[in-house]
Amino acid sequence: MPLLDEIEPLKQSAKADFQAAADLPGLDQAKGTWIGPHGKFTALMKQLGSLPKEEKPTAGKAINQAKTELESAYAARREELELKAALPKEPTDFTLPGRRRPLGRLHPLTQVTEDIVRSFRKIGFAVADGPEIEDEYHCFDALNTPADHPARDLQDTFYLAGEEKLLLRTHTSSVQIRVMEKQPPPVRIIVPGRVYRRDNPDQTHNPTFQQIEGLYVDKKVTVGDLKGTVEFVFRELLGEETKIRFRPHYFSYTEPSFEIDFSSALTKKMGREWLEIAGCGMVHPKVFEVVGYDPEVWTGWAFGFGIERIAMIRYGINDVRLFYENDIRFLTQF
Ligand code: DAH
Repeated sequence: MPLLDEIEPLKQSAKADFQAAADLPGLDQAKGTWIGPHGKFTALMKQLGSLPKEEKPTAGKAINQAKTELESAYAARREELELKAALPKEPTDFTLPGRRRPLGRLHPLTQVTEDIVRSFRKIGFAVADGPEIEDEYHCFDALNTPADHPARDLQDTFYLAGEEKLLLRTHTSSVQIRVMEKQPPPVRIIVPGRVYRRDNPDQTHNPTFQQIEGLYVDKKVTVGDLKGTVEFVFRELLGEETKIRFRPHYFSYTEPSFEIDFSSALTKKMGREWLEIAGCGMVHPKVFEVVGYDPEVWTGWAFGFGIERIAMIRYGINDVRLFYENDIRFLTQF
């Protein structure tokens, strides 16, 4: 058969082979069979040299055309097979809802803290901070707490090993001192923070818990200011009908001192009219003296309360340990 007549059938067979390849390895094999270095079509091109001179241009042209055609047939099939390989093996239902990344949320204690902070900000309080590792001076002495006070006992407080008597602060009241040491009056701060006591964990105790301290120092500050402020914040937090009651108490850094009880729909739900929630009082003159404020000029009040207690009442939680277990089933409820 003349060379010229062989071109067309070879080309058609090669094209059919490319088209029949089911996957990329199959296609590569077909490529080898036809247009590879030892391919059948390549062999045909090699015969070109043996043709008589006058046939060469026509045959050469036909062969080149067929070669180009085969190369693009190969490329087109390759593209199809590559796309096929990239598609999922199983049919996909594109109407299914997307997979959502679950959003985290704030811990209930953080939510309560932020709500309290927001209320105090409305009435001009700034947030202050202090170290959790404290010295005895700021935690006790400067707060007029004598050396034989039970809170200072090894049984009650975590002391750190070492020369200096460092400890994990037992209350946020130490930050009152740190702030007053640094700035002249007036002062209007709240201090949310973590505190530590040597308590065994049970339903209502945990060795770590959170408090919010408040301190207000100005001229002519009264217990009325204190009560009004506490009432405003607690009504924002626990509802308009919340009532506040002060009972006389003793704290060494305030005089007079009170415990604050509150009453609301929530306490009634717990079967109680009044529930104790915080300690407070008018800043003791001795505390002003140690920070260099003149107690004849400056007056003030302070309070401190536990955040867990408030969160438990607010959300109806009966075990404080739930806050620290990081059980997602608990946390996602808030
Ligand atoms: N520090 C007290 C406690 O941990 C709470 C407290 C009571 C803070 C009276 C005060 C205060 O600022 O005036 O129980």
